[in-house]
Amino acid sequence: MIQIAPSILAANYAALGEDVRKVGNADLLHVDIMDGHFVPNLSFGPDVTSAVNGVTEQFLDMHLMIEEPERWFETYALAGGDRLVFHAEAVADPVAAAKRCRELGVQSGIAIKPATAVEPYLDHLEHFDEVLVMSVEPGFGGQKFMPEVLGKVMRLRDAIREQGTSTVIGIDGGIAEATIAQAAEAGVDAFVAGSAVFGASNPAEAVERLRALAREAAGDQ
Ligand code: DX5
Ligand code: ZN
Repeated sequence: MIQIAPSILAANYAALGEDVRKVGNADLLHVDIMDGHFVPNLSFGPDVTSAVNGVTEQFLDMHLMIEEPERWFETYALAGGDRLVFHAEAVADPVAAAKRCRELGVQSGIAIKPATAVEPYLDHLEHFDEVLVMSVEPGFGGQKFMPEVLGKVMRLRDAIREQGTSTVIGIDGGIAEATIAQAAEAGVDAFVAGSAVFGASNPAEAVERLRALAREAAGDQ
């Protein structure tokens, strides 16, 4: 199923609640957590997450671009996160980390940077509710989409079909009207979009346009 996930990294922080309400037609919200160490930028943390959770019923997909993410799992679960997406590069044992997420009563997700291979995780898909394929180097919004990561999406799609798991394939970075179709054709289910949604004059309409383009390219689902 096609899902559009606006990234609030691109929202207006001085009017965050209003911006969150503007995209009430989206399927989920993507919350980018950055610590200035795992990535060279800072965003927001548990208190902002909790405030966002207070103004929407939407599913919060927590993209944890932080070192030692396991130290923060419980905090973000309590703050209202519905899925904790940690980076493969930041944990020693991704399967153990995913099990910990589920023990906390939330979904598990693993994110992989553009240069990180997906193969080591293909035999463990049942542990991950989402695999988030980065299509830019994590750290900043508004970067150019890297189509070369779509090979990973196709390998993931084949493995998920073969194994029959319900793992969602997400893509994050540079998704816009010009790029979403190629990602949908490759097999992406959940499309993160920051600047393409909140940079638009009407964010809700931007969500609808992106969804329609993805559905068309995927042969409607
Ligand atoms: C980048 C973040 C993305 C970012 C995407 O490190 O993980 O979620 O918000 O922004 P756009 O859609 O503008 O590329
Ligand atoms: Zn993200």
